[in-house]
Amino acid sequence: MRIRVINGPNLNMLGIREPEIYGRETYAGLERYIRESAAALGAQVEIFQSNHEGDLVDYIQQALGAADAIVINPAAYTHTSVAILDALKAAALPAVEVHLSDVRSREEFRRVSYASRACVAVVAGLGFEGYRRAMEILL
Ligand code: DQA
Repeated sequence: MRIRVINGPNLNMLGIREPEIYGRETYAGLERYIRESAAALGAQVEIFQSNHEGDLVDYIQQALGAADAIVINPAAYTHTSVAILDALKAAALPAVEVHLSDVRSREEFRRVSYASRACVAVVAGLGFEGYRRAMEILL
C-alpha cells in the first residue's frame, strides 16, 4: 500500500511550539517515526508538510493515481478548510485524520473538523503513535 502522509501548518515547528502540548520531539523525529512505522507495517510512504492551504490541496489532488490511501494531519486547517475537505472528496481515497493532541479536550473551536467528513477514522491524542495507528487502520 502506498500511503501519502500529509502534515499541515506549524507542524514543522514541532519541538519548539508549545512543547507542553506537542512534546519536545522535532518534525524530523516525526518523519523518522513515520518511515520506521511504515517499513515495519510493510507500507510505502511519502511524507509532505506545508504551511500553505493551496499546496496541501495540490498534494491531495496529486495523490489520485499515485497513492492508495492518505493519512492527514491538517493541523489548524482541520477546523477551517472546506478546500481541504473538497480535495479529499475529489481524490476519494481512503483517508484517516490524525492529531497529536487530544483536540476533543481542548478549546471548543478544535472540536470542529471539516476534513473528518471525508475520512474513515480520526485518531487524536496519541502523539506520534497516532500516525502508526492511522496506517494500521488503512492497511
Ligand atoms: C493539531 C491540532 C490542531 O488543533 C492544531 O491547530 C495543530 C495541531 C494536532 O496535531 O494536535 O496545529 O492538528
